[in-house]
Amino acid sequence: MLCPSICKKGAGKMKYKIAVIPGDGIGPEIVSEAIKVLEKAGEKFGFQLEYTKLLMGGASIDVHGVPLTDDTIAAAKASDAVLMGSIGGDAKTSPWYKLEPSKRPEAGLLKIRKSLNLFANLRPAYLYEELKEACPLRDDIIGGGFDMMIMRELTGGLYFGERRTTLENGIRKAVDTLTYDENEIRRIAKRGFDIARKRRKKVTSVDKANVLDSSRLWRAVVEEVAKEYPDVELNHMLVDNCAMQLVRDPGQFDVILTENMFGDILSDEASMVTGSIGMLSSASLNETKFGLYEPSHGSAPDIAGTDKANPIATILSAAMMLRFSLDLDEAADAVEKAVKQVLREGYRTADIMSAGCVQVGCRQMGDLIAERI
Ligand code: IPM
Ligand code: MG
Repeated sequence: MLCPSICKKGAGKMKYKIAVIPGDGIGPEIVSEAIKVLEKAGEKFGFQLEYTKLLMGGASIDVHGVPLTDDTIAAAKASDAVLMGSIGGDAKTSPWYKLEPSKRPEAGLLKIRKSLNLFANLRPAYLYEELKEACPLRDDIIGGGFDMMIMRELTGGLYFGERRTTLENGIRKAVDTLTYDENEIRRIAKRGFDIARKRRKKVTSVDKANVLDSSRLWRAVVEEVAKEYPDVELNHMLVDNCAMQLVRDPGQFDVILTENMFGDILSDEASMVTGSIGMLSSASLNETKFGLYEPSHGSAPDIAGTDKANPIATILSAAMMLRFSLDLDEAADAVEKAVKQVLREGYRTADIMSAGCVQVGCRQMGDLIAERI
């Protein structure tokens, strides 16, 4: 719930409670830079953020033995929004991966999404003019660039269906189930159409209706919802075709509406065609204005603590938080503009570096963006 408290008369600053989950790997570094930028935006636009640091993922396992505690969930719920870095470690070397799957870092992330009912995951992917060099696609394919919003269902499907591993007559067997009911599909579809209305009014619903029952229901319900949005164009695309179209003609997409697992895969692909996964922000929202904001990328344990991480995805996620949860659109615009300006001036972290640009570390990238607000 959004419950901003206004200070005593005179001070006049809007105050918001932000739960901060730095997490593991590069998480703490990128979150620090996002906070730096938020603080600058607060000074400039007259709002104040109060941060409560929470443990999740490996950082929570180390202290509590589990990746997410009930106290952490309660503290997150009591805030206006949650800002997160990334969780997880190296699956080969980290002791966290010797634990049973339900106690590993990723389980914490899935649990917080479910507990806070964050069913709508928005992942914008667009090509910055300045990063065309980093885009792996040919010029004739990227043409006039692209700007899409992936709307991924986040609390159902394969991620949350029943699963088990058994041994039957000496043969190991594993089962995962992909389940959706029509209400789950309807609420995410509505979000997708609402967002499309504010953009280029086109929804591509992605499924595997030629094989899966869950996709056939998905398609039917999306068509029902579409009737309420006659001004929005709807088309359906099979997920394998979508994976191909993303690298053949990314400019054709406006809103991609899809189930949890397909959205996980397609959003990584979409991020890479923008030049780097280090650029892709995300918002995970429930029915109210409350949301959790995190970069779409992982915790990159191989570069943790080396000041090499790209903080831009986290900074852009913080901008989404200002816009969606706190209604601070002007400040959100300013953060996004500052990111563009820094890129235009030629500053790059290692992942998006190209000839003729100036390479900077994570901290300096944060400083440069904050200075331009
Ligand atoms: C993501 C991540 C997570 C997911 C992992 C870390 C569980 O890949 O946010 O896309 O699969 O949802
Ligand atoms: Mg993913």
